[in-house]
Amino acid sequence: MRQAIANLEESKIREVANAGMGRADVLAFWFGESDEVTPDFIREAGIESIRRGETFYSHNLGLPELREAIAAYATALHGNIGSERIAVTSSGVSALMLAMQALLDAGDEVVAITPVWPNLTAQPLILGAKLKRVSLRPQGGAWQLDMAELLAAVTPTTKLLILNAPNNPTGWTLTREEQQTILDHCRNTGTWILADEVYERLYFEDTPNRCAPSFLDVASPDDRLVVVHSFSKSFLMTGWRLGWMVMPASLTRQVGKLIEFNTSCASVFTQRAGLVAVQRTEEVTPRVVAHLKACRDMLVPLLQAVPGVQVAPARGGMYAFFKLDGFDDSLDVAKRLVLEAGLGLAPGNAFAPEAQGWLRWCFASKDLGRLRQGVERLQGWLASR
Ligand SMILES: Cc1ncc(COP(=O)(O)O)c(C=O)c1O
Repeated sequence: MRQAIANLEESKIREVANAGMGRADVLAFWFGESDEVTPDFIREAGIESIRRGETFYSHNLGLPELREAIAAYATALHGNIGSERIAVTSSGVSALMLAMQALLDAGDEVVAITPVWPNLTAQPLILGAKLKRVSLRPQGGAWQLDMAELLAAVTPTTKLLILNAPNNPTGWTLTREEQQTILDHCRNTGTWILADEVYERLYFEDTPNRCAPSFLDVASPDDRLVVVHSFSKSFLMTGWRLGWMVMPASLTRQVGKLIEFNTSCASVFTQRAGLVAVQRTEEVTPRVVAHLKACRDMLVPLLQAVPGVQVAPARGGMYAFFKLDGFDDSLDVAKRLVLEAGLGLAPGNAFAPEAQGWLRWCFASKDLGRLRQGVERLQGWLASR
């Protein structure tokens, strides 16, 4: 067994979920997914594909028509992006791993902005890279980037900068100007940027393209930039395991080789479902985002009214990330909330040591009443102590 693997921490979110799974009385908000099933027309496309007998391998990089459709979708949001820059992957998390496999040698230095979804910091360690964290800092419940600190951390020895905005768990987002500054700096240091933009469409600010600022808006096609996307969030397709990458065309063939040795290709019926999802995104995504915004706008004020809670409304994503004053051990409090209050949240220290004392609440709930009920349970639990 490699020491790097033995050293990997088990998921603290799972640890909490395992304590409560199977208990009917628990209101679970611990995982990052909506409780709404994939829309019918997307499911039908997958079923129809199986019926037609599409049970074979596809091209490593994905069905040509899906790569074209993704290129058209990305072009509509970010300007001209050709299909030669697209690889279809068996999930967003697989896209992230492929990007790191393509770019990282053992011993390479990686800088990651944290708190962040733990997979993004575990994957470089699996590959034997060295991880340096740059921490966002909380101010009045919102987490902010100290740009000077980030720029000082990324030097010519930094092979890869990993960032995720809109961010899971904090809801932190980047402005276009900040993206430009980071890109300019990384051009100077020769550092690759891996931008996890799976939440780009789950953005609550008013923008012309209803999308968070993306590195694709500021970069040139040949910049050292890989952007990772997923079908999970904007199309309600977590269980299908489908994602994609946008990268310089010169990298795409290399990633195709890696896909061969990882999964060979995404399953074809899944790709067929993904194809109609991107083609008919207007039938899904705006509705999902409007509902998430309603969820956020109901949950956050209720949480803000709870004494001892610090939280700010996220500009993007599907999470309320809050500090509970007087509780220093997130994992302990998350487990107690499950067992004593029937409320399932993710512990903040699953995302970074500096988020100790914080809790993450996924507000992607079809039924707004569940969110209200969850806050009542939190209040009741706090009052009973
Ligand atoms: C920040 C971030 N990136 C990537 C993913 C991966 O999504 P998937 O593997 O379901 O496509 C997630 C899922 O929660 C996420 O939160």
